[in-house]
Amino acid sequence: MFKEQLQEKIQKLKEKRNAVILAHSYQIEEIQEVADFVGGSLALSYKAAQTQAKVILFCGVRFMAETASILCPDKIILLPDMNAGCPLADMVTAEDLKELKNKHPQAKIVGYVNTTAQVKAELDVCCTSGNAVNIIESLKNEEEIIFVPDKNLGSFVKKKTGKNIILWNGFCPVHVKISVKDIEDKKRLYPNAKVIVHPECRPEVIEIADEVLSTGGMCKYARENTKIKQIIVGTEVGLLHKLRNENPKKNFYPVSESIICPDMKITTLEKVYWALENMKYEIKVSSDLRFKAKRGVDEMVKILP
Ligand code: 13P
Ligand code: SF4
Repeated sequence: MFKEQLQEKIQKLKEKRNAVILAHSYQIEEIQEVADFVGGSLALSYKAAQTQAKVILFCGVRFMAETASILCPDKIILLPDMNAGCPLADMVTAEDLKELKNKHPQAKIVGYVNTTAQVKAELDVCCTSGNAVNIIESLKNEEEIIFVPDKNLGSFVKKKTGKNIILWNGFCPVHVKISVKDIEDKKRLYPNAKVIVHPECRPEVIEIADEVLSTGGMCKYARENTKIKQIIVGTEVGLLHKLRNENPKKNFYPVSESIICPDMKITTLEKVYWALENMKYEIKVSSDLRFKAKRGVDEMVKILP
């Protein structure tokens, strides 16, 4: 079936099912085109919490659909491919975290949204890369903070806030591929371009960037800095589609064409169609777990970037 035909069928099915399609900005272009909203983890959580639709078709990875289920227990949350996971989220388990908590009973536990629902149930506060600094800064009286699972985002926040943060040894296998050499090579080609990178990048990459931003923060930066016409983008290549769409007069260059998240690319237009047709695959966090995980997620959506 041609792309346009499939997109048309998806639009019709969406109405029939009273569904909304939320897509992360790392999704393939065809999916971004058919989505009702395309954005970063934080904005997607806000959208899920606000939608009036009965069904949320989540084009992203599992932890994002689980977060939507935690925020909206009465809605049907669909993930087009059950294999869309996040290796970073799988780098910490609830058991691992409980063990660490036992060693630091006074510590406040902050977790990245890239975690399983089981881990979220062990957190005091959840955050995204868009509001991690603000969340940690809001913990005024805490002497000790545990941050899981991303060590790079954690050390970036630690440096920014000067707080006593115990880091977990997790990392995003996609963002750690970005090297200083990638940036230097691109800078040689485009010497006037600004360099923006995601906080999941290695510290040495963060060090040489002009700005360190979440995907939502990158879109805002491109939109608001009217004088900046050339930007080298240090994150998953899917974001380039949204950036170019929203800023047609500017030039965006990926640090490297190989910065691709296989889990984000597992969802295809066909799978989106089948998901709505068959109402599969439903992601539902059990009410027990949801009750425990909700506290931290509620804190996350309260604190703006
Ligand atoms: P954002 O929170 O910036 O959208 O990033 C999500 C993610 O998975 C980064 O790899
Ligand atoms: Fe997980 Fe990294 Fe893929 Fe984001 S880019 S979903 S953190 S593996």
